[in-house]
Order: sequence, then C-alpha cells, then structure tokens
Amino acid sequence: MESSDSLQDQLARASETLSRLKKELFDTGRFLHCVLENSDDMVFATDVDGILVSFSKGGEKALGYTVEQMVGRHVKDLADDPLKFEKLVAISRKEGSAASLEFPFQHKAGHTVYFNVSLVSLTDADGQFAGTVGICRDITRWKKFQEDLIRVDRLAEIGRTASGITHEINNPIAVIGEISGWIEVVVGDAKGLGQEDREELETAVQHIIKQVKRCRNITQQLLSFVRDSEPTHSSMDAHELLKQTVSFLNPELKNKDIEVTLDFMKGPLPLHSDKQMLEQVFVNLISNAIYAVKERRGAGGRIVLKTSRDESMLEIRISDNGTGISEENQRQMYDLFFTTKPTGKGTGLGLPICRNIIKKLGGGFSFETEIGEGTTFIVKLPAL
Ligand SMILES: Nc1ncnc2c1ncn2[C@@H]1O[C@H](COP(=O)(O)OP(=O)(O)OP(=O)(O)O)[C@@H](O)[C@H]1O
Ligand SMILES: [Mg+2]
Repeated sequence: MESSDSLQDQLARASETLSRLKKELFDTGRFLHCVLENSDDMVFATDVDGILVSFSKGGEKALGYTVEQMVGRHVKDLADDPLKFEKLVAISRKEGSAASLEFPFQHKAGHTVYFNVSLVSLTDADGQFAGTVGICRDITRWKKFQEDLIRVDRLAEIGRTASGITHEINNPIAVIGEISGWIEVVVGDAKGLGQEDREELETAVQHIIKQVKRCRNITQQLLSFVRDSEPTHSSMDAHELLKQTVSFLNPELKNKDIEVTLDFMKGPLPLHSDKQMLEQVFVNLISNAIYAVKERRGAGGRIVLKTSRDESMLEIRISDNGTGISEENQRQMYDLFFTTKPTGKGTGLGLPICRNIIKKLGGGFSFETEIGEGTTFIVKLPAL
C-alpha cells in the first residue's frame, strides 16, 4: 500500500514537472517568437537542406517579401551571389558559425540590400547538423553614408588641386589678355596691311580676347568657390538687382527670342546682403534657364522671375519652360564640374557655386522640375 502511494506521488510529481517544463518551453517559444517579430534585423532559420522555416518581420521589411512568400524557399536564392552564400553556410556547418561583414542580397523591387551576416549552425540532441540560423543587419544606409564620405573627401581633394592649378594659370591668362589687347591696337594702327589681312587678324584677336575672358571667368568662379570669402553686406532692392541682371543678359535673351516676365510683388524688395554674390547667383540661374528653353523650344521660350515675402524670408523664383532636369542629372547637378552642355559651353560650376553662396548668405536654395515642362529654382533670403 505504502509503495503504491509513493508511486502515485512520484507520478504526480513527474506530471507536475512535465507541465512546468511544457509551460517553460511554451514561454521560451513565445519569447523567441517575440524577438523574431520585433527585431529590425533579418533573422531566419533553415532546415538541413537550407530551406527557410522561419523568417523575421525585419527580413520582410529589408527584402520586401512576406513570411508566406519566403518560407519554403532557399535563402541563397535571395543572395546576389548564391554560390558565395552556399560557401558561407558550408563554413558555418563545418566551424559552427560564420560571418560576412558585407553581403549583398536582392530586394523584391530589384535593388541591392547589404547585410552584415552572422550564421550559426544548429545541432540536434545527437550532435547531428539540424539547420542554420542567420542574423543579418541591414547596413545599406550606413554603406551609402560611407561612400558619400569618400566622395566628399575626393571632391575636397579635387577642389584643392583645382585651386592650385587656377592660381598657376591665372598669371599666364592675364599676360595673354594684355598682349592680345596690345595686338588689337597694333593691328588697328598698322599702315601697310591689306583690308582682307586686317579683317582676318582682327577676327583672330577678337577670338583670343573672347576666350581669355572665358578662361578668366572660369578661374574667378573656381577661386571664389574654393577661397570661401566672407560676404560683404549692403542694403539694396532685390527687384532692382534682378532687373539689372536681366538687362545685362538682354542681348542674349533677344538673340534667342526669349520672353522674360517680371512677376514682382508690389513696391521695392529691401534686402541686406552681398550684392556681387547675388548677382553671380542670378546670372548663373538665368543663364541656365536661357540654355534650357533654347534646348527645348528653339525660339519662343519663357522665363518668369517671381518674388514674394513673409515676415522672415523673401523668395525669388526663377522659372523656365525648358527641358526640365532628369532624375539622374538631379543627383549630380551640384557636383563640381557636372555639366550636360557640350565642351566649351558649360563648366559645371554654376549650381554648386549658387548653392554655396546662398548658404553663406543664410538663405535656402531648392528647385522644382518636370521633364519636358520646365524648371523653377527657388532662392530664399533673410528679409531685412
Ligand atoms: N534651368 C535648368 N533647366 C534644365 N537643366 C538645368 C537647369 N539648370 C541646370 N541644369 C542642369 O544642371 C547642369 C549643371 O548646371 P550648372 O549651372 O552647375 O553648370 P553648367 O550650366 O552646365 O555650366 P556653367 O554654369 O559652369 O557654365 C547643367 O549642365 C544642366 O544639365
Ligand atoms: Mg550654369
């Protein structure tokens, strides 16, 4: 009787332990599931054959597939290089774990997503390989940031080199400019020259003078960009400044049959800023607009200069009905020397200089564009 009692007790205790262990197992399972659900990382588990049995929410976010679409597939199919991924799994199986600092995968939408991948091999109670668990952190943004840093560094290096070269060629350009001016005078005064020879020489000298001016303009723009000079503020009327810029560019506007509309708010637009720098910005922006409408329309293009203001900022919008700017060009248009214009027409300095100047003047610089419709550059400046 006694022994049957103790047997019953033992049975009851065993059953209690079993229930407790079952509950613990259930809780652990729930805990792991919760980790899997809430992790931003892509966490997955595969069976012996590398087929996915579990896939986290983070993985859904990073690769664009739902769990339902993923479970039952091979993980390697999503890797940029499936063979390389298989090799990583093989190492993990042999060594117990494996890692890759930067492994590319394919997003559902087609682009590449980079992961920092850690694989761990699972073994069953008999020590037999049972599958693989992967923990993968999406490092695409970090990688892009790193690439941007490298690019900025390279641009800074180009800037320093360009500044050095500019200094070096400034003097020879000045000498060529002086001598060509002198030749112009000599040709004008020369007595024994025939009409035809005189005209040919004069045209040639004019060419030299024009090209020297262009070189000087480029070197000045480059130097002003790299020299980082401080603005000199004075009071002015932005409307007057815009009108002056338009009249300065008038010969080109007339020549290309482009209509400029001044859609100014009423009265003057008082501003305390650097006049020379702003002139440089407006000439650059209007020149770009002239080129864009000419490219798109031939003749009959339109440029609108619109002004407005609120208590703190005034806004100048320079709109054209030109080509518009493609997405690819939008990504590069602030890079130094990026131009889509033929050699000799553009240097690719205008926009980076404009943006730099407006930043220095405490303003904002942005744009709106649509291919085939046109572009608007928006300059915001602190109001007086
Ligand atoms: N209003 C615009 N419409 C269409 N494309 C534009 C416009 N403004 C700029 N772009 C594009 O951006 C590029 C860069 O402009 P940016 O002013 O920096 O250089 P650029 O005009 O080519 O040369 P630079 O101004 O040095 O003579 C241009 O080559 C052009 O492709
Ligand atoms: Mg330009």
